[in-house]
Amino acid sequence: MAIRDVLVYPDPRLKQISSPVTKFDSALQDFIRDLNDTMLAGPGCVGIAAPQVGHFERIVIVDLTSKPKNPNHGKLVLINPVIVESSGEKIGREGCLSVPDYTGNIVRAKNITLSAYDEEGNPQSYEMKGFEARVAQHEIDHLDGRLFLDRLVCRRSELFPRQNYAE
Ligand code: NI
Repeated sequence: MAIRDVLVYPDPRLKQISSPVTKFDSALQDFIRDLNDTMLAGPGCVGIAAPQVGHFERIVIVDLTSKPKNPNHGKLVLINPVIVESSGEKIGREGCLSVPDYTGNIVRAKNITLSAYDEEGNPQSYEMKGFEARVAQHEIDHLDGRLFLDRLVCRRSELFPRQNYAE
């Protein structure tokens, strides 16, 4: 078990665009284990992206197993994820391990169809809605060097000091 250091805003590396994974080898499995450990160590974390720990490959984990009221696929490792379809719009509150002091209201697609490879390199496709779709969109943004702060419609009215980490 290895918990990695998380890059925190305004670290410029959070703006870096990550490269696709090309090798599904044991180094990848080791990294995914560390990424997962780092996510689990975070307070109330439901997702994490590789660049948040300074590893610039297109790997994210989405894990809503702690949110059974939201329809979800459980823990998903998404490699080279691509949103192939999206529909609807919904505003919702987001936080981020890399922005520890704030949360923000962000508009996201309500429903998405996502294609990605799993840890073994098998192509997968997922239909997501609601909170799970939101988390996936948030994590995929990290792969393109984007934080939720970059999507705020208005910093003055839609950015909030973080009260606590419980829900
Ligand atoms: Ni984040």
